[in-house]
Amino acid sequence: MSELHAIADLAEEMARGAGAIQRERYETKLEVRTKSAAIDLVTEVDQACEALIIEAIERHRPGDAILAEEGGGQDFPEAEWRWIVDPLDGTTNYAHGYPRFCVSIGIEHRGQTAIGVVYDPIVDEMYRAIRGEGAQRNGTPIHTSSESDLSRALIATGFAYDVRRSENDNLNHFASFVKTARALRRDGSAALDLCYVASGRLDGFWELTLHPWDVAAGNLMVEEAGGRVSDLAGGPALRSGRETVASNGPLHDAMLALLATPPTK
Ligand code: IPD
Ligand code: CA
Ligand code: CA
Repeated sequence: MSELHAIADLAEEMARGAGAIQRERYETKLEVRTKSAAIDLVTEVDQACEALIIEAIERHRPGDAILAEEGGGQDFPEAEWRWIVDPLDGTTNYAHGYPRFCVSIGIEHRGQTAIGVVYDPIVDEMYRAIRGEGAQRNGTPIHTSSESDLSRALIATGFAYDVRRSENDNLNHFASFVKTARALRRDGSAALDLCYVASGRLDGFWELTLHPWDVAAGNLMVEEAGGRVSDLAGGPALRSGRETVASNGPLHDAMLALLATPPTK
């Protein structure tokens, strides 16, 4: 087995382990604290999931760099491989017992995402993408939708935790898409939203202020499933996660055009 496939298998094992913790503690009494804003939450489950993943990376792959949302692991600048970990994407949902959250692990090889693994423990769906080899859900290849008319499209978005104080609050774009697309969703897990675009459940997704751990795995999933990911200007997707526009491909230019125009009245 190649090193790439061995690492992907390892990432799946970690995602299943963290997902098991999420399932076990789901709808139990949690200690919830706030981070950057009153609406930016973290629970002991985020931390337990991250600790499990970091411990496994350090045990199996000492020397690999790690960028993890809750601050665990070390980011060695010279490392060939870098793990980008969102131990629980959808913390607000999790804290409320709303069953839409996941574990997201992206792995870069020499600065380019090579592997993406996203696990939804509630419905037991494992998404996996390897650069150049396509994307799968529970072992079956997935593909983006073929919809080319925005008025028939199901689109999703999300809001950053600074929404109460930022002028770049995405509400203008939210209004534009409500009035243009067939329907718009805001479901609280960007990594899963991207996997839904990859598997054709959604036709497109955008968000303005994401982070590397939200998009590392999901962006690769969309591209490997035949879709397109870019910044707001149509340039290459940003590894920072800012300005993420993901689509099935045929809808991409129409989404970019709508994001560039003032909202409809
Ligand atoms: C958040 C979710 C949400 C998105 C936020 C993210 P977290 O991640 O992906 O859908 O709208 O911008 O920060 O905090 O639950 O890991
Ligand atoms: Ca996240
Ligand atoms: Ca998170």
